[in-house]
Amino acid sequence: MRIKFAQQMLLLVLVTRRFVFLCIAKRITGHGVNSNDCCCIGQWQLYHTTEVFIMSNFSDMDNVFIMDHPLIQHKISILRNKETGTNEFRKLIEEIAVLMGFEALRDLPLEDVEVETPIETCRTPMISGKKLAVVPVLRAGLGMVNGITTLVPSAKIGHIGLYRDPVTHEPHEYYCKLPDPIDQRLIVMVDPMLATGGSAISAVNFIKQHGGKSIKCMFVIAAPEGLKRLHEVHPDVQIYVGHLDRELNDRAYICPGLGDAGDRIFGTK
Ligand code: PRP
Ligand code: URA
Repeated sequence: MRIKFAQQMLLLVLVTRRFVFLCIAKRITGHGVNSNDCCCIGQWQLYHTTEVFIMSNFSDMDNVFIMDHPLIQHKISILRNKETGTNEFRKLIEEIAVLMGFEALRDLPLEDVEVETPIETCRTPMISGKKLAVVPVLRAGLGMVNGITTLVPSAKIGHIGLYRDPVTHEPHEYYCKLPDPIDQRLIVMVDPMLATGGSAISAVNFIKQHGGKSIKCMFVIAAPEGLKRLHEVHPDVQIYVGHLDRELNDRAYICPGLGDAGDRIFGTK
């Protein structure tokens, strides 16, 4: 009898919580949202699952940029589909890297140079200043490199090899080779997934230890937990995220996510 009463009370609390979330979201956005998803209100994001209710104000995070371009969102949705095969997955990751790179590099400095057109001589803007280095976090980050070099073919490429321990989820380093010197370069670190944030934090630590100063990180999908952690540890680093997902599960996989990015890019599972 008591157990049944407790079950009914628990159910009532869960239903009320979901109802309150939907009301808040509807009031602010003016339309309904999927209660198991997140809803974006300007720089605010409300998350709701049956287990968590997180409200994060990303406008406090100066260096965090969450993409909202429809092409990026569309391509990420195809990536998520477990029926999407290796070939298509790889192409999409590269295309998303181009679209995200286009946005992430919008603050590259310009300088006017003199050019002779078939008509006349003019001064016209070209990229100046810092040279670029792309640094993929192995393995999965490799899938994004061509996307960035399509935009900046002269970029140098460094590599950081890290893998996540399947039990502790702690990152382990197995390789690090960066362009030397790196201090005058703009570094674009790429990895499709930001989960606990452990790998990204270690990768940025390596880049800084080698003298890297101006760093941007690009992730196709991020979990709120990893995004918050990376930003707290490295607030000077600009972080670009294709889509901010709901949460991590108990195996530290991103939900809804897309599974293991490395395995899907390289067809190893
Ligand atoms: C994945 C992903 C990131 C890391 C994210 O790599 O590409 O590097 O996990 O997880 P974290 O934020 O919890 O550290 P993984 O370790 O699976 O290696 P792989 O790319 O070789 O598959
Ligand atoms: N690494 C991945 O490839 N996927 C996740 O969801 C988390 C870490």
